[in-house]
Amino acid sequence: MAKLIIVSNRLPISVSKDEEGLHYAESIGGLTTGLSSFFESGDSLWIGWPGITSDDTNEDERGQIEDHLRQRDYHPLFLSEEEQQNFYYGFCNDTIWPLFHYFHLYTQFNEDYWQSYQKVNTLFADAIGQIAEPGDTIWIQDYHFLLLPQLVRERVPEASIGFFLHIPFPSYEIFRLLPWRAELLRGLMGADLNGFHTFSYAQHFLDSVRRILGYDNKLGVIQAEDRLIKADAFPMGIDYRRFADAGDLPEVRAEVERLRAEVIDRQVIFSVDRLDYSKGIPERLVAYDHFLTQYPEYKGRVTLIQVTAPSRTGVEQYQQLKKQIDELVGDINGRHAFLGWMPVWYLYQSQGFHPLRALYEIADVALLTPLRDGMNLVAKEYVASKTQGRGVLVISEMTGAASELVESLIVNPNNKQQIADALHLALSMSRQEQIRRNRAMQARLERYDVRRWAEDFLESLAEVHSAGMSLSVQILNRESEAALIEAYRRAEDRLIILDYDGTLVSLTDYPHDATPDEDLYHLLTTLVGDKRNQVLLLSGRGKDQLSEWLERLDLGLVAEHGVWIRPQGGEWQTIEPLDDNWKASIRPILDRFVERTPGSLMEEKTFALAWHYRRVNEDLATVRAQELKETLLQLTANLHLDVLEGDMVIEVKNVGINKGKAAGYWLNEKPWSFILALGDAWTDEDTFSVLPESAYSIRVGLKPSLARFNLESPTDVRRFLTRLTQDTIKRPLLL
Ligand code: UDP
Ligand code: G6P
Repeated sequence: MAKLIIVSNRLPISVSKDEEGLHYAESIGGLTTGLSSFFESGDSLWIGWPGITSDDTNEDERGQIEDHLRQRDYHPLFLSEEEQQNFYYGFCNDTIWPLFHYFHLYTQFNEDYWQSYQKVNTLFADAIGQIAEPGDTIWIQDYHFLLLPQLVRERVPEASIGFFLHIPFPSYEIFRLLPWRAELLRGLMGADLNGFHTFSYAQHFLDSVRRILGYDNKLGVIQAEDRLIKADAFPMGIDYRRFADAGDLPEVRAEVERLRAEVIDRQVIFSVDRLDYSKGIPERLVAYDHFLTQYPEYKGRVTLIQVTAPSRTGVEQYQQLKKQIDELVGDINGRHAFLGWMPVWYLYQSQGFHPLRALYEIADVALLTPLRDGMNLVAKEYVASKTQGRGVLVISEMTGAASELVESLIVNPNNKQQIADALHLALSMSRQEQIRRNRAMQARLERYDVRRWAEDFLESLAEVHSAGMSLSVQILNRESEAALIEAYRRAEDRLIILDYDGTLVSLTDYPHDATPDEDLYHLLTTLVGDKRNQVLLLSGRGKDQLSEWLERLDLGLVAEHGVWIRPQGGEWQTIEPLDDNWKASIRPILDRFVERTPGSLMEEKTFALAWHYRRVNEDLATVRAQELKETLLQLTANLHLDVLEGDMVIEVKNVGINKGKAAGYWLNEKPWSFILALGDAWTDEDTFSVLPESAYSIRVGLKPSLARFNLESPTDVRRFLTRLTQDTIKRPLLL
C-alpha cells in the first residue's frame, strides 16, 4: 500500500542523556509541533534525527531509542558529532538560517559545512531510497534538506515528492549571495511541489529559479525538461481544537490558578520564543523599556512574562544573544522595579503544552516581534487559546502570520515608539473590540487548521505529480505518422483543430507581422476543400484580425483564447456573457509598463489585455515581466480574472475562459471519427486536455506535453499537413 513518508531534521521527540539515562521530550519549534498533530502512524512514517549524536550514545542505547521511537513510526537517523557540528550547527544554522532570515552578516560561508550538508542529505536520501516504493508520497521538510528532493528523485524517480520550507525564502538579492545557490535550487527542482508559508516567499523562489537556473514559470508552474514543478503558498495552520479545547484540562486549570495568584490584578504581556536572533527579543525588551518610560502609569500595573526556550546552543550567535538578553532583562528590572513589582519575568527554559496553554490564557496581550519569521505559530496558538474572546495580539509585520492575522495590532519590530503605542492601545482596548478581532481570526484559524493545511498541500502535490507524469515528448516519427494518416484516410468525418501563431506560422517580433502567406492559404484551402473535414482555427488573437485574414476560408474560428467563437459561415459570439469593466482598472497598469519598458506594447482585445515584450532587451524583459505578473496577481485575485503567460506575452482575461472550453463547442457537436489538434503553447494544453483518448494531438516544439506527439517547428507542421492532404488526394488516383 502506498505510504506517506515525512522527512524532517528534527523528529517530534528529542532524546537527551544524563547520568540517570535517556530522556524523551516533545520537540519544540513550529515544524514538529504543527506536523505531529497531523501525522498518524499506521500508513505513514517519519524519518528524522532524534536530537542526540551517535558519539554520545552506545549501540545499546541507540537500539533502545530506535525501539522507543519506532512504536510511533518514527525512524531515527543518528548524526555523528562531526555532522552535528558541520551540518546542523554549521550549514543549517550558521549559513542558511541567518541568510534566509536576512541576517547576511551572520552568515558563514564554509566549505566544510557545505561538504557535510551534501553528505547528510545523501545519507537521508539513501535511507529513504531503501524504504520508499514508486507509489509513495515523500514529504520533505525545511531548510536542512534543500538538496534532498533531487537526491530522492534519482533513487525513486516515480515517487511523488513534496517539499515545504518552514522559514522565509529570501529575495533573490539575498539568496544569490550563496556560493552554492544553483546546487540548492537544483536540489529543490527534484520536488513536484515546493510549498511556502506565503505568496511572496513562493515568488522569491520562482524569481531565483528564473534568474539562476533560467527556468521561467507560468502561474507558479515551471516546466523543466520532462517534468512539472510547482511552487505555491500554503500558510501553515495549528491544531486549533487542541488549543481551544484545552481550557478545561485539570493540568491547565491548576496552572492558570497558580499563575493568577502570582500576577494578582496586574495585566500580563506575554512573549514566548526559541532563543533566536530572528525573534527580535532584545528589540522587544528595548521597546518595553521605552513603553514604561513613555507610559509610566503602567508601572506596577503590568508584567512582561518572557519565556525563552534554549535553542541551538552550539552556535556562537545564539550564545552571544543569550548574554545580551540576560543583561537587558537585568538592566530593565534594575531601573524600573520597586519592592513588590518586577517589570520582566524572564524564564530561560522551554515550556510543555499545559503551562504554555495556561500562559496564553492569562495573557492580556501577546507581544511577538520577530525581525523575520517564516510563519510564527505561537501567534496562532495564542489566538486559538482565547476562547472567551479577550486578549490582544501584537505582532511584527515581518512574520508570515501577520498577513493572515490582519485583525491583530501589526507593528514594525524596529520601531520602539510604535510598539510602545501598540502596547498602550492593547492594554486599554475595550472588551467588545478585543472579542470582535479575535472571533474573526479564530474563525479563519479553525477552518484552515494544520490538518486542512497538510491535506491541501498533499492534494496539490498529487495533482501536480499526475499532471507531470502525463507529460512526455514523443516525436511524430514515420511509423506513427503513417498510422495517423491511415486513420485520417479511413475517417468519415474529421475535426481538425489548429492553433495559428507558433504552429502554422513562426513567431514574429510584432504580432501583426505574422500575416498568412500564399502557401498557408493554399494548405488551408486544401484542408477545408475536403468535405469530410471540419477545420477549426483556435487562436489567442483578436477576432477582427482573424476575420481579416481568414474569414474568406470556410473555417470555424476562435479568438482571444476562447472568448469569441465563430462557427463556419456564422457570426462572432461570446461563449458566455462576459463583462469588460475590469479593463479600466488594469489598462493604466499596462500603460505604465509600456512607458517604462522600451520595445513593449499593449494589445487590447475585447475581453483581454495583453502586454507583449518580445522586442524588449532580455534582462529588462525578465525583470519587468516578473514585476508585472506580481502586480497583476495581487490585483486580479478578487476581480475574477486570469493572468496568462504566453510566449513573451502576459495576458489578463476573464477567468475560466480557455481554448479547451471553446473547442468543446465543436467537439460535442457529434462523435467525430477522427480528431486532430495541433498547438505550440501552454494555452494549447487546455485543448489537448479535453480531447477524447482516440484523438491525435501534436505539440509543436520539443516540450513535454499532454499531446501524444511532438513536431519541432511550424515548417514541420506544414510539411506534415501537406503529406496528410496529399495522401488523401492521391487516394482516388490509387484506387
Ligand atoms: N514551543 C513550546 N514550548 C516553548 C516554546 C515554544 O512548545 O517553550 C512551541 C510553540 O508552542 C510553537 C512552537 O514551539 O508551537 C514554535 O513555533 P513558531 O512557529 O512560533 O516558531 P519557531 O520556533 O518554529 O521558529
Ligand atoms: C524552526 C525550524 C524547524 C526547527 C525548529 C526548532 O521552526 O523551521 O525546522 O525544527 O525551528 O529548531 P531546532 O534547530 O531545535 O530543530
